[in-house]
Amino acid sequence: MNRLRVGIVGIGVGLLHLEGYQALDNEVDVVAICDLDETRITKIGAEYGVPQRYTDYNKLFTSGEVDAVSICLPNSLHAPASIAALEAGLHVLCEKPIAEKAASAQKIVEAAAKAPGKFMVCYNRRYRPDVAWMKSAVDQGLLGHVYQIKAGWVRETGIPAKTGWFITKAIAGGGPLIDLGVHVLDLALWMLDYPKPLTVSGDVQANFGPSGFKINRKPTDNALPVYGVEDSANAFIRLEGGTLLNLETNWASHTKPGKDDFYVVLIGTKGTIEFYVENYASENTVTFFTEIEGAPTTIYPHIIGQSSDHRYAVAEFVKCIKENLPPTATAEQGLTVMKIIDAIYQSAENSREIVLGE
Ligand SMILES: NC(=O)c1ccc[n+]([C@@H]2O[C@H](COP(=O)([O-])OP(=O)(O)OC[C@H]3O[C@@H](n4cnc5c(N)ncnc54)[C@H](O)[C@@H]3O)[C@@H](O)[C@H]2O)c1
Repeated sequence: MNRLRVGIVGIGVGLLHLEGYQALDNEVDVVAICDLDETRITKIGAEYGVPQRYTDYNKLFTSGEVDAVSICLPNSLHAPASIAALEAGLHVLCEKPIAEKAASAQKIVEAAAKAPGKFMVCYNRRYRPDVAWMKSAVDQGLLGHVYQIKAGWVRETGIPAKTGWFITKAIAGGGPLIDLGVHVLDLALWMLDYPKPLTVSGDVQANFGPSGFKINRKPTDNALPVYGVEDSANAFIRLEGGTLLNLETNWASHTKPGKDDFYVVLIGTKGTIEFYVENYASENTVTFFTEIEGAPTTIYPHIIGQSSDHRYAVAEFVKCIKENLPPTATAEQGLTVMKIIDAIYQSAENSREIVLGE
């Protein structure tokens, strides 16, 4: 296959996609970027040598200039943009969450099933070497039956309020649950090859955001819209096969200053793996507790990663296209995560457990 021609839509985190593609020097050309902010695309286009710049993503998709696109837009635009790109015959790498609600994710699943192009969700944490090590340990049976998973992402001060859409329910779909929870929910489910979620019980709260407390702002930032999402969420999920999943996620809490940590703990009949990432660390993240010859044994595997997980995700997407492999993070998996998230909000609203598929 010739060099892949890629376009990037949304140049916030889209910049990490751009750098990831450009790092794959011999295989990919980033030929177009698209954003409503013309000043930004002019600057980034010049700096990174991207020749084509668009403000209308539909024009980019039908231009004939690209084979694949990264969709890095606010959450409620993921479905319309991904579907339009798929219908134009393009391959799509869509940022997480796949959509702002399960109904929109369902539409992507349907479009992806009909389209010639590949669709992949950008669950970038999956491709870290430490996560790959854990997955391999689970697949080899080193943990036995994994009967409980604890997953979370917790921050001291990390309400993403620079542009305002993150705290607007209709655009974002929710707060830290949909922003950070999706990552660790995906990791937890993927470790067990996506068992079916059976029941969900959850609660969401907004203790800081509405008063503006713990929101990092610069005096030059635009005024914010009304705070319309949660800033903390907790859930208890029963999975097919008898595994319990505990989830906690928040954007703000009184804890260690600067804390921004995520974790997945897999607790099994033969061993436990604790994966704990402190402030985006890429080393010393995994501890394996087991028993050898009757003695409790703790193992600290030495796994070295790199700082940007987006490099791995972009490389994986390109590999799937070039080698005609099935996408590793599918639209169906993105939908499953969104069904759980929708159910957590529903459970919180109605103060009761939700049976999925009810
Ligand atoms: N995988 C990760 O680790 C990760 C990290 C950050 C963000 N994200 C996801 O990436 C997406 C974007 O987040 P962000 O932090 O980059 O947000 P952002 O607000 O910084 O950037 C979004 C960009 O999209 C542009 N945009 C908005 N509407 C547009 C339109 N109709 N056409 C063209 N451009 C448009 C905006 O001008 C902005 O530059 C979100 O879904 C977020 O959840 C993922």
